[in-house]
Amino acid sequence: MPAVARNETGLPRQNGYGKHHAPTVRITGVPPTTKPPAPFEHQQRSPARQRLVRFTPAGPAILTPMLNPFELERYFARWEFTAPFLLSASDTEPWKMTELLSLASPQMSNAWENLSLGYTESAGHPVLRQAIADLYTHSSSDGAGATPQQLTSDNVLVFSCAEEAIYVSMRALLMPGDHVVCLWPSYQSLYDVALSVGAEVTMVELLEGDGWAISASQIKNAIRNTTRLVIINTPHNPTGSMPDHATWSSIVETVDNAGAILFADEVYRLLEHGDGGPLDTAASLSGRAISLGSVSKAFGLAGVRIGWIATRDASIFRTLETYKDYTTICASAPAEILAIIALTNWSHIVSTQIAIVTANLGHWERFMTDHKSLLRWVRPTGGSVGFPTWLGEGSVDEFAENAVQEAGVMVLPSSVFRHGNPRHALTNNFRVGLGRKTFPGALDRLDTHVRARYGTG
Ligand SMILES: Cc1ncc(COP(=O)(O)O)c(C=O)c1O
Repeated sequence: MPAVARNETGLPRQNGYGKHHAPTVRITGVPPTTKPPAPFEHQQRSPARQRLVRFTPAGPAILTPMLNPFELERYFARWEFTAPFLLSASDTEPWKMTELLSLASPQMSNAWENLSLGYTESAGHPVLRQAIADLYTHSSSDGAGATPQQLTSDNVLVFSCAEEAIYVSMRALLMPGDHVVCLWPSYQSLYDVALSVGAEVTMVELLEGDGWAISASQIKNAIRNTTRLVIINTPHNPTGSMPDHATWSSIVETVDNAGAILFADEVYRLLEHGDGGPLDTAASLSGRAISLGSVSKAFGLAGVRIGWIATRDASIFRTLETYKDYTTICASAPAEILAIIALTNWSHIVSTQIAIVTANLGHWERFMTDHKSLLRWVRPTGGSVGFPTWLGEGSVDEFAENAVQEAGVMVLPSSVFRHGNPRHALTNNFRVGLGRKTFPGALDRLDTHVRARYGTG
């Protein structure tokens, strides 16, 4: 693979195309002529390397912008609005419009009533950008590693959801031949968009036996001199794991020292319920890192569709801003006002959402005690999801299928995170979503189902 053409900042050149990446567009209607190579290759050379799983770009030699189906989202598309009882949602209890508007200041009520529905500022509403920057002041640093720096509204770029920001970041920052490090399991777009660009992705696998720990040394071992991005999601979906402050500082430092960019998916940030509290954001700790945020999880506003990235690197900022002109251009005007109302009341909203998560954690742990021959888990410390292991009869796919078909309860089997790798050992976990008020009712249904079908409790 030839060296990647970059500008002086090390980012892909924005004007003109190098010969190695010119014809990346697949002509519509012409199917790929070669069979994609097997997409996984386990590294078995040493115990330390065994956890690294190398993905190679799927697809023919001519790179195409094709993406694999997003298995988790397809599963949700099938069940989210048809199964009567959701036990797997990753967002938290959605706020009602009247509840949210009742929190608005007189000024924001007026902005809402008199909102003009034209285009909005492409980088985001200035008040929203400031409200987001203010979230980054709430540091709980214990003094280890770099001192967190205050972000300003100029460091914040608003997107029409975090998913858009992931797509734009991967498309705009990566080129064929770049190397990426990502955790596994992970939210699929975090690595699949990179693969579709033609990057090579090394997956650092989290293991239940290690408490799903995110390890700085594993990440260090996976980094190469061609590594452009290191993608870490913390608190982590689906395990709810998070590194401690010292490990997080060490990861930030390692990525910085390697000259790579840390892309930190922090969409579950502020939903920490373990002992450690929130980590400092990547963008506050490193001048080159990117922090990803969203109103979907900690703020219970998934239907508002507002996300953002924060970075102090002006060149990265410009690159993403420029690419966004080809996706949504600017965010929805009503969504921005609703997000401002939420973020200027962040403390009240987040504590409401955390109270639901912690109550549901208690319900879930009682359920597990009643059915201990069928279930075990590593208690999550942050976010709104956990990843228990199914120990009962049959595969977790069968358990999930029976639960939804017979009891109307949707859980998310780990096969949607395996992403087509039949050799992978991550077979018997499923995700529970702890953020909804309907959780206890759904759990009652599951309890009745499990007693009848598996004879426990
Ligand atoms: C880790 C992670 N990142 C990003 C997203 C996308 O968030 P949004 O729905 O706000 O775009 C999700 C959604 O589930 C997620 O779990």
